[in-house]
Amino acid sequence: MKNNDSKLVVVTGATRGLGRAMSQKLIQMGHMVAGCGRSTDGINEMNELNGPNHTFRALDVSNDSSVYDWAREIIGENGAPDVILNNAALANSPAPLWKVPCSEFSEIVDVNIKGVANIIRHFVPAMIKRGSGVIVNFSSGWGRTPSPEVAPYCTTKWAVEGLSKSLAQELPGGLATVAYSPGMIDTDMLRNYFGSGAASHPEPAVWAEEAVPFLLGIGPEHNGQSL
Ligand SMILES: NC(=O)c1ccc[n+]([C@@H]2O[C@H](COP(=O)([O-])OP(=O)(O)OC[C@H]3O[C@@H](n4cnc5c(N)ncnc54)[C@H](OP(=O)(O)O)[C@@H]3O)[C@@H](O)[C@H]2O)c1
Repeated sequence: MKNNDSKLVVVTGATRGLGRAMSQKLIQMGHMVAGCGRSTDGINEMNELNGPNHTFRALDVSNDSSVYDWAREIIGENGAPDVILNNAALANSPAPLWKVPCSEFSEIVDVNIKGVANIIRHFVPAMIKRGSGVIVNFSSGWGRTPSPEVAPYCTTKWAVEGLSKSLAQELPGGLATVAYSPGMIDTDMLRNYFGSGAASHPEPAVWAEEAVPFLLGIGPEHNGQSL
């Protein structure tokens, strides 16, 4: 149960990388986190680490009915989230587009675009009813500039930019959504693209020290922006 001073923050992809680091920083700052990820081991570890005041659930954001059940439970117990960090995503194995199997392309679209929309579909109505809330949709540098061998990922992150700008025009006053490019951080995803070169970028926990206060500072005045 959150107290009056703390925010309820929904974090997708909380088992590893940026989502895990943001969750830990938010909890350290006194906020309540409801996080998800697919890995049961990762979720069990987050629950054990953070105790009963926070809740981590194993689910796939591309599964609309799982997201519906999760949203009902979180909203039923705690009310509407104050902030959604729509962070979960997959990267493609680097390859020219014509060599990317159909199944891989579909999975990336399902998680990176439809997963973002599923979270919005089931959490945002309660935020609208309350009249406040911020939805941060994780984009990328590759949501704004192209590169070879990342077409599936690039496609989805450009989509996140468009989805966010369109949603921004639909939200009532008091709410905001942004597309957010986090920079380059040494996670599994960056290693997928840059190998050991990823180590020259900050670790997630170091990045989260500045990123989380920045994200909590987003408000209605930022609605529709690419940050
Ligand atoms: N790292 C960077 O430099 C960088 C740069 C630009 C943008 N970004 C963006 O920042 C966000 C986080 O990236 P990251 O580097 O932290 O990636 P990461 O290390 O690969 O972590 C991705 C997280 O998403 C979860 N996830 C993946 N598919 C999921 C699904 N279907 N349902 C629920 N959870 C799922 C993963 O957990 P499970 O495996 O347990 O599901 C994991 O917790 C992404 O949106 C990414 O595109 C990152």
